[in-house]
Amino acid sequence: MGKTTTTSNIAVALARGGHRVVAVDADIGLRNLDVIMGLENRVVYNFIDVLEGTCRLHQALVRDKRVENLFLLPAAQTRTKDAVNSAQMEELCAMLRKEFDFILLDSPAGIESGFRNAAVGADEAIVIATPEVSSVRDADRIIGLLESMGKTPIRLVINRLRPNLVRQGDMLEVSDVLDILAIDLLGIVPEDDSVVKASNRGEPLTFTDTSPASKAFQRIALRIAGEDVPFPKFDEDRSSGFFAALRKFFGRTE
Ligand SMILES: Nc1ncnc2c1ncn2[C@@H]1O[C@H](COP(=O)(O)OP(=O)(O)OP(=O)(O)O)[C@@H](O)[C@H]1O
Ligand SMILES: [Mg+2]
Repeated sequence: MGKTTTTSNIAVALARGGHRVVAVDADIGLRNLDVIMGLENRVVYNFIDVLEGTCRLHQALVRDKRVENLFLLPAAQTRTKDAVNSAQMEELCAMLRKEFDFILLDSPAGIESGFRNAAVGADEAIVIATPEVSSVRDADRIIGLLESMGKTPIRLVINRLRPNLVRQGDMLEVSDVLDILAIDLLGIVPEDDSVVKASNRGEPLTFTDTSPASKAFQRIALRIAGEDVPFPKFDEDRSSGFFAALRKFFGRTE
C-alpha cells in the first residue's frame, strides 16, 4: 500500500521544511524503515531497548546526516510484536513528544496487536490506500478501528494512482474512493517508478527529486504542517491540449 514509503518521504520533507522530526519504525520484526531511509548501517539500539532500559532514548535515535532535524527510531528485528504493550507505546510517544515537532509512526500491515500498538500513542492518523477495491475495503476496516480508538482526525492518502487506468475505467476514481471512505483527503500520490529506485538507493524521493511522486509527498508534508495546498489534477495535461487533440483524432474521446 505504501505506508513505509509515505512515512519516509513525509519525514524527510517535513525535516527539510525545518521541523524537528522522528520517524518511528513500529513494524517490529520486519523492520525496513531504516533501509528505505538509508540508515540501516547506523542502527545500534532500537525502541524496545529504550523501553526496557537497555539504553537511553538519545542512544537509540539515529540522526540523518543529509538533513538536519531528522531522526529515525528503529524497530527491533529479532523480537516479536508482543515484545511491547500499549502502555509502553504510549510512554514512548510521550517521551518523543517532548523532543519533536512531528512523530511519524510507521505501522505494520494488518489489524493485529502490532497495528494497535503503532496507533495507540498517536494523536491523529493517516490511512494509505491504493485505488483498488481490496485496498479500499482494508482502509475502511482500519478507519473503523482508528475511530473506535479515538484517533481522529483520520486523513487519507491515495497512493499509486494511475490516471490512464482511471480514464479507461479500469481504476477507481479519487472521488469514488472518497465517497466510500468518507474521510478527508490529505494527498494523492501517482504511481511512479522513481519510488522503487529511491527505495533501493535508501534515499527517499523528497530529498531532492522533482518527480511527480516526490512533489505529491512534498505537498502532503506542507498540508500536515498546516498549509493550505491545492490538489492538482494528475491528468490535467492529458485531458486538454496535444494529447486530447490526438485522442480525438483517433476517435478516443472521453
Ligand atoms: N507511488 C508509488 N509508485 C510506485 N511504487 C510504489 C509507490 N508507493 C509504494 N510503492 C512500492 O510499493 C512497495 C510497497 O511499499 P511500502 O513498503 O511503502 O508499503 P507498506 O505499506 O509499508 O508495506 P508493508 O505492509 O509490507 O509494510 C514498495 O516496493 C514501494 O517501492
Ligand atoms: Mg511497511
